Amino acid sequence: MTAYDIIEKKRYGKELTDDEINFFINGYTLNRIPDYQMSALLMAICCNGMSENETFALTNCMLHSGDIVDMSKIDGIVVDKHSTGGVGDTTTLALAPLLACCGVKVAKMSGRGLGFTGGTIDKLESIPDFNTSLSQEKFFEIVNKVGCCVIGQTENLAPADKKLYALRDVTATIDSIPLICGSIMSKKLASGAQAVLLDVKYGEGAFMKTKERAVELAQIMVKIGNRAGKKFAALVTDMSEPLATKVGNSLEIIGAIEVMKGKRNRLSDEMSLVAEKLLVLSGKYDSESARHAVESALTDGRALAKFKEMVEAQGGNTIFVDHPEKFALGETKDVTADKDGYVYSMRTEELGKAVTLLGGGRMVKSDVIDHSVGFEMRVSIGDKVTAGDVLVTVYHRDKNTDLVCDLIKNSIEIRDEMPAPKKTAYAYVTENEVEYY
Ligand code: URA
Repeated sequence: MTAYDIIEKKRYGKELTDDEINFFINGYTLNRIPDYQMSALLMAICCNGMSENETFALTNCMLHSGDIVDMSKIDGIVVDKHSTGGVGDTTTLALAPLLACCGVKVAKMSGRGLGFTGGTIDKLESIPDFNTSLSQEKFFEIVNKVGCCVIGQTENLAPADKKLYALRDVTATIDSIPLICGSIMSKKLASGAQAVLLDVKYGEGAFMKTKERAVELAQIMVKIGNRAGKKFAALVTDMSEPLATKVGNSLEIIGAIEVMKGKRNRLSDEMSLVAEKLLVLSGKYDSESARHAVESALTDGRALAKFKEMVEAQGGNTIFVDHPEKFALGETKDVTADKDGYVYSMRTEELGKAVTLLGGGRMVKSDVIDHSVGFEMRVSIGDKVTAGDVLVTVYHRDKNTDLVCDLIKNSIEIRDEMPAPKKTAYAYVTENEVEYY
């Protein structure tokens, strides 16, 4: 077996065997196969796709390239969720304590932001002293005691994905359903939860630009997860505008606290739906009782109290939970509408880039981020505006401020006609069916 033969086979669109996939992925992870041959195979996969069996073998091989977290030391059922990434996706921050209030455990390993998407770990670190790098023993202890804990991903979780993702990023091979599936599912399966809800985003600010491709990705990920013996389901949700109105690190913590105090918006709607679906997937609830449990934990203050308990257990300063006005934010500058009309569309990916340009995100891993910057959306798609109305308030520290204000203005399209209404969730995907909303 040679790398050359395997590349050629995939180039002609033939199905690779498990042994061929293992040979290639293991060889690459152990530096026996060079970048140029891996790049050629990645491009052949991008162009010709992979069957379900090939995708399963790829995921399995990447999963076993590193540690697999053993959650057996946690009492009760451990649930997890994973979003394919978007702008203002603050769901985890309020979801973890909310689920813990409903009697399931959340032992979550999250990532940092890179490029135009933010990362949960960066957001949590805007709370002074919050510790996201705990030992596994301490992590399990907090999950057992509090019900939820969120830490950074351990170094040796699916190392094959780390190498492959960096290569895909520079070879235009990110946008491939089997490769995205292998990347996400290897990490999710290695993270050890028993029931996982995938939130597959579509639209301007997502990897999947259309609903149809998002459903396709969701279906294969759910199949692979269930084939690996875990309970997986997926929601396909809209990312044509930022999910939260407040976008940026400290700003997203403030927005999550507002939701835990009962504020209703797109973020709370989506988070409640994710929570309901996960509670049903856990086997502890039916739809009706899950909806009721989520609603009451959000409105009676238990979710916020649980969040505070988690912050305290992870060493964070809880004054910021009680008094979110204490977060230091940048100076404000408003972006206003040039004309009358309806907010018709947004270039969400550009809006995500705005946070990075202001200093709130990273272009390379070593960049130090400023938690105090970001922006607040004052309008949503479909809103009627008059020239001079504030569209967005930017929080800045004099870094690229004018550039960002121009970028934001150019990213929000105002037209005379009203856009077609959009639902937050488009479909719910389980092993055997797709339910459309
Ligand atoms: N997120 C991942 O972790 N991997 C991908 O390939 C795409 C999104």
